[in-house]
Amino acid sequence: MNRQIPYRMRRLRKSDVLRRLVRETRLHTDDLIAPLFVIEGKNSKNEIPSMPGVFQYSIDRVGEAIDALLVQGVDKIILFGIPAEKDELATNTYSHDGIIQKALQTLKKEYPQLLLITDVCFCEYTTHGHCGVIVDNEVHNDNTLELLAKQAVSHAESGADMVAPSGMMDNMVGRIRTALDESGYEDMPIMSYAVKYASAFYGPFRDAVDSTPQFGNRKGYQMDPANLREALSEAELDVTEGADILMVKPALAYLDVVKEAKATFNLPIACYNVSGEYSMLKAAAKMGWINHDDVLMESLLAMKRAGADMIITYSAVEAAALLKQ
Ligand code: PBG
Repeated sequence: MNRQIPYRMRRLRKSDVLRRLVRETRLHTDDLIAPLFVIEGKNSKNEIPSMPGVFQYSIDRVGEAIDALLVQGVDKIILFGIPAEKDELATNTYSHDGIIQKALQTLKKEYPQLLLITDVCFCEYTTHGHCGVIVDNEVHNDNTLELLAKQAVSHAESGADMVAPSGMMDNMVGRIRTALDESGYEDMPIMSYAVKYASAFYGPFRDAVDSTPQFGNRKGYQMDPANLREALSEAELDVTEGADILMVKPALAYLDVVKEAKATFNLPIACYNVSGEYSMLKAAAKMGWINHDDVLMESLLAMKRAGADMIITYSAVEAAALLKQ
């Protein structure tokens, strides 16, 4: 029996071809940026226990990961370094033979087609594990800025194509922009971790780079997960300071923030699908509780639907392979 129903939404869901016709959001390989961890030493490839499938590579072997990405069409990476020696002032971050500098020099030569983004922050390099210089048991904003500026310029000199400051220091984008301009890198884009929450979703990453703070926590500089209007203030400041891309981090639990940032600003919006999001998915899939690939693609699509133009994800190679199918 056919009833008179005013409109039948199911008409356009009848077949795959119709569903593809009316699809509003699409994930593309070009949207994906892959994080890579580099370590000192030779011939090393160490799996991160809390992030199955993610490895720390010595510079002579990181090409294995890059080749796998390139085969799938992912040609954008963000580099994280783990130095052999940490110290109070994170000197490795701005020294010519620092771990990231050496990685950049090698990769720029071997992979000229690759977009090399660097994370500009101190937590992987300091003995105390905080994202800046400590004065009186606190991360000192302005002293940290001076060193962040040196770090960014040093990355530029070694071949970075884009810098991504993640330390949540006030005026970090402005200070880095000035330093880059003064050093002749006025064309170097800044992807700002504009809105970075003090999140427990970073747990597995801190294992990966051994950056758990030795005292206190990061709540004095990273944002309170409760706040959205403050997120917009953070992003607005970064726009005025000269950011080229605004990032929201983490992604899944903060898609409202992504959406609001997209609606408010005209810069490209990135989101960071962080370590905890990656590891939860891997763990549940290992237990046989969810379908890994389907949940992964649904999550990445949701980030795009919320407004992300690009996604930093440890699943980049897997997602790109799935997109090809
Ligand atoms: C800071 C930085 C962190 C992440 C990216 N950059 C760690 C932190 O703030 O503790 C987290 C990334 C992730 O969890 O995947 N250098």
